[in-house]
Amino acid sequence: MNKYKIVLLPGDGIGPEITKVTKILLENISKKFSFELNFEEQLIGGSAIEKTSNPLPERTLKACKESDAILMAAIGDPKYDNLPREKRPETGLLQLRSGLELFANIRPVKIWPSLIDSSSLRPEIIRNVDLIVVRELTGGIYFGEPKGRISIEGGGVKAFNTMSYTSGEIDQISDIAFELARTRRKKICSVDKANVLDVSQLWRERVNLQAKRNPDIELTHLYVDNAAMQLVKDPAQFDVILTGNLFGDIISDEAAMLTGSIGMLPSASLNIDGPGLFEPVHGSAPDIANKNKANPIAMILSAAMMLRIALKESEAAAELEKAVEAVLYEGFRTADLMDQTKTELGCKEMGEKIKNALNS
Ligand code: IPM
Ligand code: MG
Repeated sequence: MNKYKIVLLPGDGIGPEITKVTKILLENISKKFSFELNFEEQLIGGSAIEKTSNPLPERTLKACKESDAILMAAIGDPKYDNLPREKRPETGLLQLRSGLELFANIRPVKIWPSLIDSSSLRPEIIRNVDLIVVRELTGGIYFGEPKGRISIEGGGVKAFNTMSYTSGEIDQISDIAFELARTRRKKICSVDKANVLDVSQLWRERVNLQAKRNPDIELTHLYVDNAAMQLVKDPAQFDVILTGNLFGDIISDEAAMLTGSIGMLPSASLNIDGPGLFEPVHGSAPDIANKNKANPIAMILSAAMMLRIALKESEAAAELEKAVEAVLYEGFRTADLMDQTKTELGCKEMGEKIKNALNS
């Protein structure tokens, strides 16, 4: 029997609730497909700050490095907003991404037929949407140096970050996008701001070089402002969207809402080898934490991505996704997706319905 070591990072806000639900489903599916999952829970984000005053304790990073895959829920809480940057929950996640060199963030956006009316866009606009955002995750303005804050002579303060990419970093992430596009509709749209930024000009040159080496893939470029507009105007035009860290952060939230709720969107963050990190695109939603209102589906779908990509248990992954689809089809919704004609379920009850669907 195949055995896998999974580090669970429940984090903050709704994190622990959605983790509990997802873990039960993973236990269920592992029995069904005869593999063993050994879970180890570790601290990250605000919950880690409370217990260790460090958003990414050393032992969490160590456990992650020794695992087969990491499944995280969400981190962050407004109560840490005024702490210095190194003590904030988000810093824990950024350190984890860079500590494991998870440079490739894959965010698939697909429309679930049952949710076609849940989007704020008209059904005919979103019907054929099936895209993947490939976001560079360990470089760009998130990590660029110099950064910081200085006093200005004569008064005032200046704060600054640096958006930088090396040719190697750009090549590495575009490689992933070209490989992925080859398994799909063979189209890449690279998103940058090359009309203004030097870093984007280099980005565009390197991606163009990659395209020469991959003549079977159609490459187009969009400036990020235009891409943001095209995403709501005609999102079905996109197959693979390749972009940097900051633009990817923004574009992927926008793309998530095409599906009706950011509560539906999973993601994978990968290195060439070593364990990957699987996490929902949404945040910790502190306003609805501990109210049994959260939508656990993005985390469940992240678990499915983990089964498929990290553990190569693709049948189990497909079964989990099918169970989610069945429950949505039957008309069950969490609050974020509710409309008058559907039945509202809490986080825990949504998990139970999906479990029943798995076993039927
Ligand atoms: C995301 C999040 C993170 C990011 C935050 C929580 C640091 O918004 O995964 O998209 O900005 O990358
Ligand atoms: Mg984000």
